[in-house]
Amino acid sequence: MKLIHLSDIHLTTPGTTIGGRDPRQNFERAVTHILRDHHDAELMVITGDLSDWGDREDYQWLKARLETVPIPVRLCIGNHDNREAFAGVFPDLVSEGGFIQGVHDTPVGRCLFLDTNQKQTHAGHYCAERLAWLTARLDEHDGPFLLFMHHNPMPLHLGPLDQIRLLDDVAFRQLAARYRDRIRHIFFGHCHLPLAGSIAGVPVSSLRGTNHASYPLFSETKMLSASDLPEAYGVVFFGEDYVTVHMVEFGYTGEIRVEGSPEYGDWNRETMLR
Ligand SMILES: [Fe+2]
Ligand SMILES: [Fe+2]
Repeated sequence: MKLIHLSDIHLTTPGTTIGGRDPRQNFERAVTHILRDHHDAELMVITGDLSDWGDREDYQWLKARLETVPIPVRLCIGNHDNREAFAGVFPDLVSEGGFIQGVHDTPVGRCLFLDTNQKQTHAGHYCAERLAWLTARLDEHDGPFLLFMHHNPMPLHLGPLDQIRLLDDVAFRQLAARYRDRIRHIFFGHCHLPLAGSIAGVPVSSLRGTNHASYPLFSETKMLSASDLPEAYGVVFFGEDYVTVHMVEFGYTGEIRVEGSPEYGDWNRETMLR
């Protein structure tokens, strides 16, 4: 099964750019790229920061745009989103307690979409109410589960980003530890960085967003770091006993040299046969 993971699309009013880049235009470029190469994907998930300022107009535009995408799409909200404005446009995605969380079954597992947004802060929160919801979902089914969330559930050891990570991450990892045999993978966004690792033995991955990019500048301890690295989306393949995660840099404008072309160079030594 193939799944598309997008994150941090940060939609803005038309004409407004972030880092000199137009989020709507870049979202369109991502969708075009996805439909060219991955129209057979089973599901597309956008893990939050859908709107840069949580504006209702951004959600309305996104809803209309997604209606024309022939792949099922599910959404998480992030710190830049406004839960109430989002809920007004996507009422079907609102669950108990008003949180934007839900369930979607695929042939390779049951997807759970988590809400880590907390008003008035860029940091992520996962309160007792949301933990209880997640525990109930993990208890009611044997799995395997795929989890999707905006904030990183582990520290990055990048000071400025760690200040706005999921602040309840210890409790979250303890829950992951209890259900590690059922959770196959956790996908997150927020950092605008390609990341891989595990929490409590559960594999996790993240990627650059479809618009502006971060940079892991370890020497900067106070301010967030941005870069001009290419815009990206993720493609994930699930086999019976493996998961492969790609980050496709659709914003890369350099050359792509194909084997056999004059610029590619020698692949094989004369004595080496394939
Ligand atoms: Fe973001
Ligand atoms: Fe974020």
